[in-house]
Formats: sequence, C-alpha cells, structure tokens
Amino acid sequence: VVVVDKNVERLESCAQIVDGAKLLREGEIVAFPTETVYGLGANALSDQAVAKIYQAKGRPSDNPLIVHIADLTQLKQVVREVSERANRLIEAFWPGPLTLIMPKSAQVADLVTAGLDTVGVRMPDHPVALALIKQANVPVAAPSANRSGKPSPTTAEHVRTDLNGRIPYLIDGGTAGIGVESTVLDVTVEPPLILRPGGITAEQIAAVIGEVRLDPALQADAGETPRAPGMKYTHYAPGGDMWLVEGEADKVAVKMKELLEQAKSNGLKTGVLVPEEFASIWEAEPCADIVISCGSLQHLETVAQNLYASLRMFDEFQVQSIISMTVPKTGIGITIMNRMEKAAGGQVIRV
Ligand code: TXA
Ligand code: MG
Repeated sequence: VVVVDKNVERLESCAQIVDGAKLLREGEIVAFPTETVYGLGANALSDQAVAKIYQAKGRPSDNPLIVHIADLTQLKQVVREVSERANRLIEAFWPGPLTLIMPKSAQVADLVTAGLDTVGVRMPDHPVALALIKQANVPVAAPSANRSGKPSPTTAEHVRTDLNGRIPYLIDGGTAGIGVESTVLDVTVEPPLILRPGGITAEQIAAVIGEVRLDPALQADAGETPRAPGMKYTHYAPGGDMWLVEGEADKVAVKMKELLEQAKSNGLKTGVLVPEEFASIWEAEPCADIVISCGSLQHLETVAQNLYASLRMFDEFQVQSIISMTVPKTGIGITIMNRMEKAAGGQVIRV
C-alpha cells in the first residue's frame, strides 16, 4: 500500500499512479481516492476486468457501476449522446460529485450497467483519481471500495479493513473530502430525477436546470422499487442494530435514554451518535458505552464528512445497539438522512 501526496507537482510521474494505471490497463482492479469516497476501479470497456469488482465487493450483479472519466473525450466513448441539459450540468458541476445517467454507448461493458441501456458517468474532482484515469487512458468503472452493504470508505484504512487480500492495489490519497457519494441524476427523463441524493444538492441542480425531482421511491415508506438498483439494498450499515430518534430535542433525549436502558438491560454494548452540539450532554451522563459526535448541525457538510467513519467506529468497538439523533432534511441533510435511514434499516422513531 502506498501513500500519494495529492499536492505533489507532477502526479502523473508518481510511481503509484504509473503502477495503478498499468494495472488498470492490464485488466486488474485498483482502489483509489475520489473527493466523495474511495472507489474500486476497473477498465469500463472490459467485462472481464469489471467482473473482478463484483467479485471483490461481493456485490449483486444487478447493481450497475458508475463510470469515471478524466476528460470530455472519454465522455464521447461511453455515451451515445449528451443532451443540451446534460451539457449545462457538466459545465456547472464537473469535475465534481454529480453522476449523470445517459444513454450508454456500445463500447461500455455490459457488466458495468447490469444490462441497462443507460450508464452513469462522472468526472471526479480529485487530482489522484484524474491522474490515474488519464494515465490508464480508459474510462474507469468504480463503485465505492467497501464490501457490499458496509458504509462506504472515506479513508484508505477503511478500504483495507474491507478488502485486504481481495484487491491487488490501493492508492492512499488521505481522507475523502465530501464523505458521501455523488448525487445520481437521471437526465434521460422529464423532469430529471435524483435517483440517489449525494454531494450536490437538489437546490444546486435546480439552480442550473430548473425543475428536478427526488425519486419518490426514496421516501422511507414509499413501497415502490427505487430506480437506482443500488438504493433497494440495505446499505451503509454498521454491524450493530441502529435506531434513529427524530423530533423535538428534549423528547428525543428522553426516548434515546429509554432505548439505551432497554438495550443495556438486555446486556448489549451501546453507542450514541449525535451532532457535536449535543456531545457534551451525552458524555456527561453514563447512558451509553460510547458516544460518537459526528460534525456540527451548523455545518451539515461536516456531518456528511464524518458519517461513515463514525458508523465504522461503532463496529470497531463492537457496539451492538446504536441510538442516533437525526439532522434536518435540508440541503446535504437530505443525503445524510438517506444514508442514516439505510444504515438503520428504516428503523426510525418519531417522538
Ligand atoms: O461518489 C460516488 O458516486 C462513488 C465514487 C467511487 O465515485 N461511487 C459510488 O458507486 O458510489 P456505487 O456503485 O457504490 O453506486 C452507484 C449507484 C448505485 O445506487 C447504482 O444502482 C446507481 O448508482 N446506478 C449506476 N448506474 C445506473 C444506471 N444506469 N441507472 C440507474 N442507477 C444507476
Ligand atoms: Mg456503494
């Protein structure tokens, strides 16, 4: 395992980039940092290479992968056409955490799209990712570099925990900046649909193209099948049983304590997940075995940055019962709550 300083001046001649790119060209899989989470990449034009991703992750083969590109020439390789609307979004948000669903070209390996006629494409805003893809000189299919079902990795250490011995190469580029995955936006439908909320908010998208909707199937109790196949799986989940408690702060605290008492009386190791504004209150009271504070309510992007590492920390401490506060569903808060609800397997208590 190697560490790359993303600030070095000539990344393209870095041994790690050169070796990683060579492996990708040879049909191998390589884990690498992006601005959202770590990805596990393979040549998107080769079914044989892409098969190795599904195998290493233990990922269901009906869940399509995102193709990562380093420049717009590669975009032409992977899609049949780019609509005028897609072009405006590309101009506004690439490189960055926005994945666009577009008509797939014949060159893209069928395994990438799980047989769909569309492909998700994005240009990551990370110098290591861009240098790697550019040098590999092929578009790179890459899901998040976690074992299927686990929280996505925001550090190389997380990748190692999940995939050690299952992948030949990992490029360590430090902690991922955004901390949650890209927004997946289907621009082949009218109005465009957010299939997975992510690093770019609905408001940011609406400011560029006007009307945009969230896939209605993503509401907690929708009972419909989400349009992004990946969104139907239990996901981002820590090993322990997780409950979210939502409502007015005082009532939430009372309910959380009640749940903790219950778990304790069942002999379970307990954990609490709260925004830093509430951390000292919980630390002062010995209600839970561990209290993890996860960013500030004043700056929800800090909650996004810390969420997956926090969930993984509960696993490290082998916490069996996790009780969590929620955040407001505004801006990036929509993404955070989507991931928290999935991590909790839909177990939300409103008080
Ligand atoms: O930030 C990210 O997007 C990270 C980094 C590595 O770039 N990648 C990532 O990939 O999160 P993955 O494979 O874990 O999630 C891809 C999501 C899944 O929910 C998948 O079902 C959806 O995008 N998706 C991909 N292609 C699709 C398509 N053609 N139609 C509908 N949904 C698609
Ligand atoms: Mg994933």
